[in-house]
Parts: sequence; C-alpha cells; structure tokens
Amino acid sequence: MIKISAAITAVGGYVPDFILTNKILETMVDTNDEWITSRTGIKERRILKGANKGTSFLAIQAAKDLIQKNNLDPTTIDLVVVATATPDMKASSTSAFTASEIGATNAFAFDLDAACSSFLFGMSVVARYIESRIYKKILLIGADKNSSMINYQDRATCIIFGDGAGAVLFEPNDEGYGVKDEYLRSDGSGREFLRATHGGSSNAITEDSLKENSHFVYQDGKTVFKNAVFNMADAAEKILKRNDLDNDKMDWLVAHQANKRIIDATANRINLDPQKVMTNIEKYGNTTSGTLPLLLSDYESQLKKGDNLIFAAFGGGFNWGSIYLKWAYNT
Ligand code: UT7
Repeated sequence: MIKISAAITAVGGYVPDFILTNKILETMVDTNDEWITSRTGIKERRILKGANKGTSFLAIQAAKDLIQKNNLDPTTIDLVVVATATPDMKASSTSAFTASEIGATNAFAFDLDAACSSFLFGMSVVARYIESRIYKKILLIGADKNSSMINYQDRATCIIFGDGAGAVLFEPNDEGYGVKDEYLRSDGSGREFLRATHGGSSNAITEDSLKENSHFVYQDGKTVFKNAVFNMADAAEKILKRNDLDNDKMDWLVAHQANKRIIDATANRINLDPQKVMTNIEKYGNTTSGTLPLLLSDYESQLKKGDNLIFAAFGGGFNWGSIYLKWAYNT
C-alpha cells in the first residue's frame, strides 16, 4: 500500500485590532521599551477586546480566513481540533462551537491543551489520523486569548503575552510531502514554574486567591527560559541529526515565539542562517498556541513546495518537542 503522509494544504491567520505597544505598557507597569525589546524582542502585541469574546472568536476568524482564501467547502471538513490553553469556558468545548460557527457541520471537534506546545502536539495527533486514512480533511487551529489570564500589573508576564490564532488544513499526500518525523517530550516537574494556581480543579478561586491574583499566570521567567533554551534546541537538533538535515538542506525554522533570545539560541545550536528563522514575535508577542500557525500564515507566500521546515516549541508543563515537515505547495 502507498504510504500516506499528513500534508499542510492551506493556512489562515487572525490577530485582533487593538495593539498594545511597549509604550502603552510603560504607562501600566514599571518597565520600558528598551528593556522589553532587548530582553524579549517584542515591540507590540494584540489584545482581543469586547464583551463575551473568547478564544473561539479568534479561532473562528483564523478558520474563516483559511476557508475564504482557499474556497474551501466547510462541510467537507472531517475534524476540527482547537489547540488552546485558554478555552472559552469550562465543561464546554471551544472546538465544537468553532466548528459550528464556520459551517463544519459534518465534523466532530475537540480541544487539545499542552500549553505553549498545544499546536505542535496537535500536529502529531492530526498526522496520525491522516496517516491511518480514517479522516481526509482536518482543520487544526491554534488559538489563545492570553489576555484573559494575564495580570496587567505583573511586569514579568504582561510584557510577553498577546492574543491571536492561526489555522491549517491537513490532508493526505502520497508524494512524500507533510509530516516526516517528530520528537515530543513532557516533564511534569516543571509545572511549578509556569502556572495559574487558582481557577482549575485543584484550587478553586476564593476571596483570598482573588486578592493574591493567583488566578493569573505566574512564571519563574529565568527557570522557564533556561529549560526552553536547552530543550527546544535539543529537540530540534535530534530531529535534524536523525533526518540527516543541516543548514544547507533546511529551509525554515518555525519556532515558538516566547522570547527572541530563545529562538536565536535554538537557531545557533543547529547552525541555521538567521534568514531561515521565521519570526513575528516583535509584532504579536507570545500567542501560546497561535505562534506556529501564525508564522505559517505570515510566511506562506515565501514557502515553496519541497521546503524542509523544522517546527519547535516549549511551554508550561513542561511540554516541548520538534517536528519535521516537508511543505506541500507553492502559493
Ligand atoms: O511560552 C513559554 C513560556 N515563557 C517563556 O518561555 C518565557 C521565558 N522567560 C523569559 O522570556 C525571560 O525570563 C523574561 C523575559 C520573562 C525575563 O527576562 P530575564 O532576562 O530573565 O530577566 P530577569 O527575570 O532575570 O530580570 C532581570 C531584571 C530584574 O531586576 P534586578 O533584580 O536585576 O534588579 C527584574 O526585576 O529585570 C527586572 N525586570 C524588568 N525590568 C523592566 C523584570 N521584568 C522587567 C520588565 N521591565 N518588564
């Protein structure tokens, strides 16, 4: 039987209109543009405003962008996966609502959460569904309304995160394009260093927790930084080695956008030319599950059929890894 791989055949993206610049942040917390730019590479991030608008709003816009650009009939979609760390609400899946709103009436849908690695791990799940020939058209959306869990008085977190979403369509390919290899890992001892302590099932929100702001995201930036640099680079290097890839054979690094210094360290470790590193952190910050598909959306016009892409991500949990994918189309 011919081997089937899971290829990306269409891309869409969406970021909300409101731009939270470093200059505006200077008026909110004790920080400055020079510090944020030199320590993170971020100049601005987008924030979703408006009552009752959650992550599904971002996911729906990104999916609609993909559908419109590619003239896709949404009733042909078999499965909608929303990779997110910020679902609309508890006990109701964001993906089911998203699928209905975009007209994917013949699809089933589920959410997938692996913090900042949600989209990367989603690629792995979706690839297996396609390779096993069970489903033929799968929409994987990475979307996060991070502003819903950020304390805008905490300068260690509010400067980094933004809201946004990207969507990709996966379809079967029998010419060798698509997902080729993956190396994914988790280490639960990392959960102390990046978390929102209250508001989940282990600790309910109380009057005290509200006063302490412990329903917002807390991070020990230095520890997360060190682990991200080591593990993201390590995973990418392993994928490169076992697929006999080097700078000449590689076309793009599609890395999680958490800190420009983490991205640069990963590129250095695998000896990659800087112009092969996709970046949009300067304008969106860290959109968690949105970073990887938003990169594809921003760089789609530069991608060529046969390009070798290395995806890499690291995030809360800790969860991290790398995926090798061969690009399947010219725009
Ligand atoms: O998506 C995955 C999860 N997140 C990440 O991957 C993020 C990983 N961590 C980071 O990106 C970095 O650790 C941060 C950007 C969060 C912080 O950068 P850093 O270079 O690790 O700074 P630091 O926490 O070591 O702080 C250095 C100094 C401190 O002052 P002192 O003690 O040296 O006087 C901080 O108080 O910078 C101070 N500082 C700030 N100053 C201005 C911390 N945050 C700020 C700020 N503006 N926003």
